[in-house]
Amino acid sequence: MTKRVAILLSGSGSNMVSLVDSMTGDHPARACLVMSNNHDAGGLQKAADRGVDTAVVDHRPYGEDRAAFEDVLHARLIEARPDILCLAGFMRVLTEGFVSRWQGRMLNIHPSLLPKYRGLNTHARALDAGDTSAGCTVHEVTPALDDGPILGQAQVPIHPDDTPQSLAARVLEQEHILYPAVLRQFAEGNRQMIALP
Ligand code: GRF
Repeated sequence: MTKRVAILLSGSGSNMVSLVDSMTGDHPARACLVMSNNHDAGGLQKAADRGVDTAVVDHRPYGEDRAAFEDVLHARLIEARPDILCLAGFMRVLTEGFVSRWQGRMLNIHPSLLPKYRGLNTHARALDAGDTSAGCTVHEVTPALDDGPILGQAQVPIHPDDTPQSLAARVLEQEHILYPAVLRQFAEGNRQMIALP
């Protein structure tokens, strides 16, 4: 049976686009919802243009009460009946309570070669460290930040004249290849790690 995929984002949604556009033909999954915590997220219009339902749950009225925000998020997700939840630039840290409801069914893409550089500013940190390669990771989401089982990684070289922006652009190209590849396998029930290139 076709798997249903919900995607959470906060920004421009280029990873969401690569996921949605990959789910055609004999792909075992289809997008059922794109949801954001941010009304202004560019990804919402891109999803609507692709005929995918969209929803917004603004986190700001809930202030520090993450669990209250997540309860509303969860309720809207349940309506869409996803089998798989993909985080794609969703800039809210999720509580253990939320993660445990979706664990084993929730993926994230992170712009570093985990376990290196969990959290933010990954590209600047890789450059500051003098690394010669960087990349991205798709992993299952567990309560600890950027820490779940790794399902795929793609590497790129770091060039001597790289800036965080030029490196981010090179990594993002790989994100758009890696995330759809992992999602397809995951939807088929295969959790074998993918290593690119
Ligand atoms: C990507 O770099 C992703 O790795 C990170 O957030 C960014 C989202 O970009 N988690 P986009 O909204 O998919 O373009």
